[in-house]
Amino acid sequence: MTKKIAVLAGDGIGTEIMAEALKVLDFLNADMSLGLTFEDGLIGGAAYDVHKTPFPQQTIDLVKKADAVLLGAVGGKKWESLEIALRPEKGLLGLRSELELFSNLRPALLYPQLAEASTLKPEVISGLDLMIVRELTGGIYFGQPRGVKTLENGERQGFNTLVYTESEIRRIGHSAFKIAQKRNKRLCSVDKANVLECTELWREVMEEVAKEYPDVELSHLYVDNASMQLVRAPKQFDVMVTTNMFGDILSDTAAMLTGSLGMLPSASLDVNGKGMYEPIHGSAPDIAGQGIANPLATILSVALMLRYTFNNEVAAVRIEKAVNDALDGNIRTADIYSEGMTKVSTSEMGDAVIAALK
Ligand code: IPM
Ligand code: MG
Repeated sequence: MTKKIAVLAGDGIGTEIMAEALKVLDFLNADMSLGLTFEDGLIGGAAYDVHKTPFPQQTIDLVKKADAVLLGAVGGKKWESLEIALRPEKGLLGLRSELELFSNLRPALLYPQLAEASTLKPEVISGLDLMIVRELTGGIYFGQPRGVKTLENGERQGFNTLVYTESEIRRIGHSAFKIAQKRNKRLCSVDKANVLECTELWREVMEEVAKEYPDVELSHLYVDNASMQLVRAPKQFDVMVTTNMFGDILSDTAAMLTGSLGMLPSASLDVNGKGMYEPIHGSAPDIAGQGIANPLATILSVALMLRYTFNNEVAAVRIEKAVNDALDGNIRTADIYSEGMTKVSTSEMGDAVIAALK
């Protein structure tokens, strides 16, 4: 049976890194008879330039009928002055919301070869392997009312709303507990229950869900403490689960522990495991078009797609191993370069992964 993948390269370095991910996927598709087919679509600024919207109907139709979505990155200077509703980022938020991709998995794994690229001491991060499960379709990112209004005294007031229903908390809870069960069975839920009622409810519901997973040890941290612990002693964590905005912030911190945003993939899943896969880094407009971006996060996102949507663990592990082998060959893109290594371009890194796959 053939499976369709919607390919949305997006903006900035999106096109360059996507080309490498597709090279790798094309190779495996043929080599392992995966039966995958591809269809391109526009999102973000690239979509705005053609259709005057960052998430056009054609793309909505495409992602709805696809079995999985592979995304590059969105955003750039060119579109920054547009109103919020038309900005590239809205395309990404629309996609998450349209497909109900509520469960966002952001692994932070340290490749021993890159320990020197981190700004933290090697003993703090060596062996780091944690997973952040971020709620992705609710919370303050989507809550109503929102906006900027003018008060009676003429002063402007900006407002956003943090809301979670019990069922929204419960489903991300189940998602996180299930992932913890497959890992080291420790789950830390992050909230601000000392100040925000909404996350007091979050904590209560996590406790309720925990009863169904007696093999998983649940703990709680306030988000300020969690961010501090992440840089102080990140290896204490196995899986973390948190709200949309806290997850946005903590996942950037977690990512940087590993030395480079250029290495980290992500998966965003719906209740049936249909997913959107993307690197966690952005469109990096400052280096776009130069052929120096690191394609590994996107290539590793392909591995997550094979694992979570297509249930093909063998193919996923093959890619992850090939990335590891490429790093063992001492080649590095600029973002992860250190002395004594060979600096390579985006496409040379893609070629090295394919060579390792062979
Ligand atoms: C992320 C990004 C997005 C987010 C932006 C681009 C809308 O920062 O995926 O972490 O805030 O969710
Ligand atoms: Mg972010």
